[in-house]
Amino acid sequence: MNQRVAAGHDGWHPQTRLLPDPREAELLASVQLTALGGGSSALGVLYPAIHRRHTSRYPFEETEIPEAVQTVLTDAARHEGASLTFPTGWHLNEVLELAREAEARNITDHTRTTDLAQWTHGGVPFSDTESEGVPQYAFGPRKLGGKAPMRDFAGDRPVVGRAAAEFEHHPHLALLSTDRDHPQDWLHAGQAMQRVLLLATLHGLCSSFAAQPLEWADLRWPLRDPVTGTGHVQMVLRLGYGPSGPATPRRPIREVLDIEQGTPNS
Ligand SMILES: Cc1cc2nc3c(=O)[nH]c(=O)nc-3n(C[C@H](O)[C@H](O)[C@H](O)COP(=O)(O)O)c2cc1C
Repeated sequence: MNQRVAAGHDGWHPQTRLLPDPREAELLASVQLTALGGGSSALGVLYPAIHRRHTSRYPFEETEIPEAVQTVLTDAARHEGASLTFPTGWHLNEVLELAREAEARNITDHTRTTDLAQWTHGGVPFSDTESEGVPQYAFGPRKLGGKAPMRDFAGDRPVVGRAAAEFEHHPHLALLSTDRDHPQDWLHAGQAMQRVLLLATLHGLCSSFAAQPLEWADLRWPLRDPVTGTGHVQMVLRLGYGPSGPATPRRPIREVLDIEQGTPNS
């Protein structure tokens, strides 16, 4: 998605093929660029948000997200073949309960705590040598209270100087779903997620993720929207107005992208 946005911003038309070679499962997509002829594309307007969007593990305000903003975010997901819904009432309570249950299981599950330790590290801003994993400075404060579902990346390890805070009591969550649940659908979900997050950033929203209940098969299923019914939830997003999170390191571009100069017909 970021590449499509950047291409659109620079006046290119990206033609994307997902999983283009069945023999190469890790080749997720090929993107062919052709000159667009004139200005930035509709996706290109999202470009400034690529560098501004960071996961924010800070408390958000209780302020409602205007319906008009919810609608444009829902449309953005639909453009990418996914659906976005904002659970309310008992459905929201159910999603929060499933996230709490997942978090409680994670704390006592040895595999999960090992996983957490592997995917986190004590880095310092702007001088990080590690390109993978969540650095300590991005953990956000420890949750003292409130209902926002926050994964505590510190686990049971103390983090020197880490503050504690009350989180929102009426969190705004959004469920991103696809009709089916195959690798192609995961790639559509990933693109839809990023498109929603970039647009949300332009609308002044911050975001974090609550993937905990998706990691347990028996907790993932009941997350589904009871109205649309049939979707497979791929991500639980938390959106709101508040402090933006810190920038975290990125993998070197050459690790994720092979660039080939082609002839017009190749
Ligand atoms: C599939 C996926 C699941 C994630 N799940 C969580 C999560 O449950 N809790 C969380 O705080 N962050 C979660 N993250 C966010 C990553 O930790 C975050 O993207 C990473 O730290 C990079 O930081 P950035 O989002 O600021 O670029 C998830 C990200 C992805 C792509």
